Amino acid sequence: MRIAVLKETASGEARVAVVPEVVQRFTKAGHRITVQRGAGLAAGSTDADYEKAGAQVVDSRAEALTGVELWPRVRRPMTAEIEEAPEGATLVSMLGIEPPEALLPALAARRLTLLGLERVPRITRAQSMDVLSSQATVAGYKAVLIGAAELGKLLPMLTTAAGTLVPARVLVLGAGVAGLQAIATARRLGAVVSGFDVRPAAREQVLSLGATFVGPEVDASAEAAGGYARAQTADEEARTRAALAAAIPQQDLLICTAQVPGRKAPILVDAATLATLRPGSVVVDLAAETGGNVEGTRAGERVVVGGVVILGPVQLAATVPLHASQMFARNVLTLVQHLSTKEGALKIDPEDEITKAMLIALEGQAPGGSGR
Ligand code: NAI
Repeated sequence: MRIAVLKETASGEARVAVVPEVVQRFTKAGHRITVQRGAGLAAGSTDADYEKAGAQVVDSRAEALTGVELWPRVRRPMTAEIEEAPEGATLVSMLGIEPPEALLPALAARRLTLLGLERVPRITRAQSMDVLSSQATVAGYKAVLIGAAELGKLLPMLTTAAGTLVPARVLVLGAGVAGLQAIATARRLGAVVSGFDVRPAAREQVLSLGATFVGPEVDASAEAAGGYARAQTADEEARTRAALAAAIPQQDLLICTAQVPGRKAPILVDAATLATLRPGSVVVDLAAETGGNVEGTRAGERVVVGGVVILGPVQLAATVPLHASQMFARNVLTLVQHLSTKEGALKIDPEDEITKAMLIALEGQAPGGSGR
């Protein structure tokens, strides 16, 4: 099949959906890849790397897209981009937090198929296609680095001729993919780390990374289908906030990652608890895009409340574009293998468990009852 790799157009987006290593895998499988000149530069891949991997590098977007059947993308397509796609093509892309239905008229006009990458179901055989996990891994790591860079303290304990420095204390709220990576990263940097999550499985994982677990007793029913958390009841929320309020004043760095799919992020740190942090403390709220875990977080901004710095980064994985793209591209490769026939043709089966969950439009039409 013909596959196109274009430069991402979203502001600040340095990732690319397919890296040369994956191009090589595609060409070996008999696919033809066209790459827009410069598509991978921001992610560390040159045009020569793509050519060496077997792609044809072309000058314009239109040339790259001519006759293309599959257009893997990192970020949600804008209407003008959908209009660039050849009739009948298939786009695979992250969708972001805006409702995908807004794209349907443009998709219908060109009979396009769109699969939303965030909708890969959380089943074992789809794990290697899961961009949410791969990008959360990168974001969790980077969250600790940007938090540490804001702190007026060093993270590790140091014994020097100029005296002994006590290690910084880091608390990670939400110990899923991003949170566990943040815990591991903060531990490697020498901080004293604790974590909290509502899912019982996460408690064990926090402990296995050598961090301590804070917060109220976890309840087995907190885990919903697919390993995600369910929303907490008002009573549970109050207990969580009270338990965290006791642990938070001692912290230097809070990394917040708690999310509940399809909902606003839970508020775990209210304004009164935030005020108990010492001035100079730092909060990195990775849930900022869905409202944040901290009262006062603003998505994409740095705000200072009572001397506490609150960072609300969005698309943090895009700031580590080389490895984020490498992982993203491997996710795309596994998905494309799943969507291909033995002969290497693209076959979108709306009844397949994985495809069905991801399908936003099939040849321009919204399939009835898709999504999760
Ligand atoms: P996520 O990004 O939806 O949420 C992040 C974390 O926040 C989760 O651990 C969740 O339990 C936690 N959380 C939600 N509400 C909270 C609250 N009120 N207080 C504290 N924490 C709260 O989830 P993520 O990180 O993408 O995945 C969660 C789990 O799903 C993973 O740890 C894993 O077990 C499972 N998973 C399974 C996959 C598969 O089988 N294909 C792929 C990826 C994850």
